[in-house]
Amino acid sequence: MANSMITGGFGFVGRHLVRMLLDKGDNVTVFDIVPSSPFLEDIKGEFAVKVGSLGNWAHVAEAITANKVDTIYHVGAAIPPLTERDPATAFDANITGTYNILEAARLFNLKSVIFASTQSSYSDGDAFIPMDFPQRPGTFYGMTKVCGERMGESYWRHFGVNFRGVRYCIVNGPGRGGVNPGQFVVWTLQMAALKRPFKVFVEPDVEVASIYVKDAAKALIDLNEADDAKLRYRVYPIMGYSVTAKQLADVAKKYVPEADISFRVNADMMAKVKSLNLARQMDISLAREDWGFKPEFDLDKSMQDYVKQCTENRELLNYEIPEF
Ligand SMILES: NC(=O)c1ccc[n+]([C@@H]2O[C@H](COP(=O)([O-])OP(=O)(O)OC[C@H]3O[C@@H](n4cnc5c(N)ncnc54)[C@H](O)[C@@H]3O)[C@@H](O)[C@H]2O)c1
Repeated sequence: MANSMITGGFGFVGRHLVRMLLDKGDNVTVFDIVPSSPFLEDIKGEFAVKVGSLGNWAHVAEAITANKVDTIYHVGAAIPPLTERDPATAFDANITGTYNILEAARLFNLKSVIFASTQSSYSDGDAFIPMDFPQRPGTFYGMTKVCGERMGESYWRHFGVNFRGVRYCIVNGPGRGGVNPGQFVVWTLQMAALKRPFKVFVEPDVEVASIYVKDAAKALIDLNEADDAKLRYRVYPIMGYSVTAKQLADVAKKYVPEADISFRVNADMMAKVKSLNLARQMDISLAREDWGFKPEFDLDKSMQDYVKQCTENRELLNYEIPEF
């Protein structure tokens, strides 16, 4: 049985990982700067919590030793837009924080560190990003993630720390917070599932690469369990599907015929979406070949799960969203 610690376990991806690892029989510790998540209230007695900051070595070391942690799923991070207006917080959480996690893995001889990186670690790139495409991020956030990847590889090379990671594209699922331009993917499906109106703020042909949150969380477990001898890389890009805004509206109406989804393009958001180039496809063939990455959720299955989650947890998911 593994003693797993999830940094950022009260966040969007982290809270799915908490449930999956508990289902697997792991002892789970959540390490987060916030003390709880309403999405985990129903199982809050089933895992340990350490409230602390990733950038604080004492907090990290204490959480690991007190809970006899042997495996770390490092998904805690400062994310945009905070990272772009507050570089000090971004550096502390994402660079000092990742250094602290890796140093702890070295000093306490942990079994593995599994890291969540991002497609934002590339610059605008081409429509298709091959495996060894240079990572020249255009954001502070992306820079911190490239730094985390390179640090992890160095700890693996020099000290044998079993560092592994994935690069996510946009992760979608009910309850994902934030106001990023790619958020229209979530809001289109979530508002439809809640039977509330939503005006999609990008043009219908805008395309994004995305992955459903349950596949994103499960991939971290699968990568941790992969045979080391088969890993040609330490960090693998993964994605689930490419989808246009129109396809999102269509699938929403397919499963919720009364859904009130229309388009009202916001020029500012359109410009941001274009500059971020969210349609880029990453090469997932190596993740498939080396550790059997296989997303379970296509667009239809994702929407079916939005409907299920929004029906079962309406009080948690029926919050106000900004209008653009
Ligand atoms: N959601 C996406 O589309 C996406 C895409 C690419 C990569 N990622 C990466 O996946 C991971 C999970 O993303 P998410 O969507 O769940 O983000 P999230 O913001 O929902 O969760 C991040 C968690 O980290 C915690 N955290 C932040 N700073 C901390 C600190 N200094 N110390 C301790 N905890 C801290 C937050 O409280 C939060 O619970 C992140 O590393 C993110 O960079 C996410």
